[in-house]
Amino acid sequence: MEALGALGALALGAALLLRLYALLYYNFVAATRCRNAVSLRGKTVLITGGNAGIGKATAVDLARRGARVVLACRNKARGESAVYDIRRESGNSEVILMILDLGSLNSVRSFAQTYLKSEPHLDILINNAGVFQDGQTSDGFDQAFQVNHLAHFLLTHLLLDRLKRCAPSRIIILSSSWHTFGKINFRTIHKPVEGMWKALRSYGNSKLANILHARELANRLEATNVTCYAVHPGSVRTEIGYSCPWWVVWFLWFVKTFKRDCDAGAQTSIYCATEEGIERLSGRYFVDCHPLEPSSQARDDHMAKKLWEFSERLLGLTT
Ligand SMILES: NC(=O)c1ccc[n+]([C@@H]2O[C@H](COP(=O)([O-])OP(=O)(O)OC[C@H]3O[C@@H](n4cnc5c(N)ncnc54)[C@H](OP(=O)(O)O)[C@@H]3O)[C@@H](O)[C@H]2O)c1
Ligand SMILES: *[C@@H]1O[C@H](CO)[C@@H](O)[C@H](O)[C@H]1NC(C)=O
Repeated sequence: MEALGALGALALGAALLLRLYALLYYNFVAATRCRNAVSLRGKTVLITGGNAGIGKATAVDLARRGARVVLACRNKARGESAVYDIRRESGNSEVILMILDLGSLNSVRSFAQTYLKSEPHLDILINNAGVFQDGQTSDGFDQAFQVNHLAHFLLTHLLLDRLKRCAPSRIIILSSSWHTFGKINFRTIHKPVEGMWKALRSYGNSKLANILHARELANRLEATNVTCYAVHPGSVRTEIGYSCPWWVVWFLWFVKTFKRDCDAGAQTSIYCATEEGIERLSGRYFVDCHPLEPSSQARDDHMAKKLWEFSERLLGLTT
């Protein structure tokens, strides 16, 4: 009798564990795949930070679809080695490298100039590069705020006419579910964050800025046939955050088993870049190839407009 009871408890325990694993697996690890077979022959794609992680996996897929893919990377050696891999994996030799360091606004300006001079087309811009890291850039801004938001804001601004000329065209902005921890305070958002949670806080702020950027951009692009989408790729096994303090790295390492691989993590970016008929969802936030409501702060149109004007002022773009 007692043995039976123990067996029952064991079976129940096992069933509960299995259930928990399934819950974690389907919610965090498995990803909805982008199922369309849209060809990108004749199209040009620009991906920032395409040399690693989600960006590299996205580049491989879009190159397989026949696109000309330009990787915008800060490090020449890492960029060249990625170009080599992507050409080999996709069988497409039209994959090229151009140097862009989002930590320097001058680098963004000279990159845009070179791009506009050498590349006649821009059909899909993917603002993918990102850091989960505290500190300050050479321009004096918070590292995550500049690399993740401000420099991409400038890049998008400088390339917008080319995107309009190539319409229908698209802009994909990588955000994160961590935007829920973000806050926009115009007195401090551009300044390096202090305190124990600084990397987390500036990352959250920048990812909230990403969604607001997409929202306001969509408004301003109405009737141009240029559309834009913010994306949360899921929790993906990449190197992001590995320059954080040891306890953050330890945590990231610990949750690694519950993360999806880069190919799965790239699916929503690929979907937003290629799926036909999603244009009416311009400005929205996508997770697992579906539009999803982000946090209430990320739906604040008034804030989106203010952030736009604030970013313009920081960049000296106002006339
Ligand atoms: N992994 C996740 O779980 C997750 C979750 C939500 C959102 N995201 C977002 O997904 C995007 C891609 O991240 P990932 O996970 O693929 O990270 P990753 O593997 O660390 O890749 C980030 C890419 O950005 C580049 N980059 C960093 N700073 C740069 C700079 N100053 N100038 C130019 N390029 C720079 C990196 O280049 P180097 O190789 O030179 O460092 C690398 O190519 C990010 O925007 C991130 O916020 C990721
Ligand atoms: C947008 O696309 C539609 C449908 O292809 C076209 O009729 C319209 O002229 C385009 N508008 C602009 C501003 O390019």
